[in-house]
Amino acid sequence: MAKKNTGQRNFFRFMTLIGVVVVGGLGYSFLGAAPKLSDTDFHKDTSSVETCLKCHVHAETKAPIMPHRQMGSCTFCHRPAA
Ligand code: HEC
Ligand code: HEC
Repeated sequence: MAKKNTGQRNFFRFMTLIGVVVVGGLGYSFLGAAPKLSDTDFHKDTSSVETCLKCHVHAETKAPIMPHRQMGSCTFCHRPAA
């Protein structure tokens, strides 16, 4: 049986742990960066992106303008209030 190299094994365990923590942290901050939808009538219907854009593209209402390009489903990042 080959001699176990515990020093090296522990080194790789440690590096794996760092990797997992970094990737998890990035994923968590990515999903947490977008503000939640407020609990109001106009944020109840999240079925269509077009509805969201009606209010969030032009500055005619007091709705904040979407500060990024249009990205797929809004509610993937902006979670509705429960
Ligand atoms: C009838 C107009 C209207 C529609 C439709 C609408 N919003 Fe809004 N939205 C507003 C207004 C007004 C505010 C600011 C007041 C508030 O947060 O309730 C706002 C705020 C927001 C904010 C900022 C919340 C914060 O805490 O900073 C986000 C994000 C947002 N809306 C996303 C969406 C998405 C995604 C949709 C589609 C599901 C949508 N809105 C549909 C009017 C609208
Ligand atoms: C990939 C994730 C993601 C998607 C998808 C997404 N957003 Fe955002 N959105 C963000 C992040 C992150 C911010 C905060 C940006 C900042 O603070 O600079 C933001 C900010 C906003 C704001 C400004 C909120 C404020 O308080 O000023 C509005 C409005 C908004 N998004 C609307 C939308 C709409 C409408 C859609 C769908 C077309 C959408 N978002 C899709 C991540 C996303």
